[in-house]
Amino acid sequence: MSPMFVPGPVDVAPEVLQAQAKPMMPHRSKDFEAIFQRASEKAKALFATQYRVFLGTHSGSGMQEAGVRNFANESILACVNGAFADRWFQVATANGKKTTKLEVEWGQAITPDRLADALKQQHYEAVTLVHNETSTGVENPLQQLCAAVKEVSPDTLILVDAVSSLGGVKIEMDAWGIDFLLTSSQKCLALPPGLSLAAASDRAMKYAETVQNRGWYFDLLLMEKHRLKDSTPMTPVMPLIYALDFQLDRFAAEGYEKRFARHAAMAERVQAWGEDAGMPPLAASGIRSKTVSSLVNTRGVDISAMNKFLTQRGMRIANGYGKLKDKNFRIATMGEIQMSDVEALIPAIEEFVKQMQPA
Ligand SMILES: Cc1ncc(COP(=O)(O)O)c(C=O)c1O
Repeated sequence: MSPMFVPGPVDVAPEVLQAQAKPMMPHRSKDFEAIFQRASEKAKALFATQYRVFLGTHSGSGMQEAGVRNFANESILACVNGAFADRWFQVATANGKKTTKLEVEWGQAITPDRLADALKQQHYEAVTLVHNETSTGVENPLQQLCAAVKEVSPDTLILVDAVSSLGGVKIEMDAWGIDFLLTSSQKCLALPPGLSLAAASDRAMKYAETVQNRGWYFDLLLMEKHRLKDSTPMTPVMPLIYALDFQLDRFAAEGYEKRFARHAAMAERVQAWGEDAGMPPLAASGIRSKTVSSLVNTRGVDISAMNKFLTQRGMRIANGYGKLKDKNFRIATMGEIQMSDVEALIPAIEEFVKQMQPA
């Protein structure tokens, strides 16, 4: 494996890739239903939930669409502090929902006070939040944000995108009162892309019964009907479900707490190095992501040249996202990445930066 310090698709362990290579079988067969049931059941630990976990044959954006189609007839408050939160706002708007933006500057977090104020001004059926904003390296204070919603507007459903954090950072769906929590396979789960997972609370599923125009592919009530028979309405992405079943055993063997600690330690190492090197994280201390560090390119590093240099050494990082391209660069430390990989990356970056200085 070549350590790819990019926020997805990440490296996949050879044995996980291999787990996809089982023979195909009819998806409406007892054999496949047993695998589907096992994988969905194990996934509950990932979400820290007693509710249901849906396995969707599409990437995470599809679950963003499912969230807004199923859990709001019209009014949504979208908390936006980066590109992926803005994507969710756009998905909601494109689906005809009356969506209000609560926006803060890229690099800042959504604060419980701002959210509470917005909820005091108007009632919303649902609020959308991105836990870990991959574009800026900011982790929103999710537990406190959920508490603010519960206090001011307890019936508002809390929809959370944890595409770049679930499986790498502790998120307690039931304890924090999250109603819909979604992720993609190609980030902290360290699987190939194409599978999306989302858990939904009972009260959210009940609310969905009152929602019109849920569509078909993303109708979670239809998904639920089939899920109860360990199946899906459409043909699922079977190889990825084989791999998920296998991968979740590897997570359990590592131990979730250890896995979270490994992610936190790697991000801290990168961020501390960034500070020392005069290229600090965009995010202030206290709201920094534990899976992707977005460092400010204060030294005017040619990011694509640096990546070429790193690629020759079997590594790769990511440029800044969207309007942060070349202004920032991102080092993702998720999935299969280990501290020893980080310890190899840092001197390689230092070597590149040193050689670009005039002698
Ligand atoms: C936070 C976040 N949300 C949503 C997405 C979109 O996910 P997908 O590409 O799986 O549709 C991404 C992708 O990078 C992301 O980082």
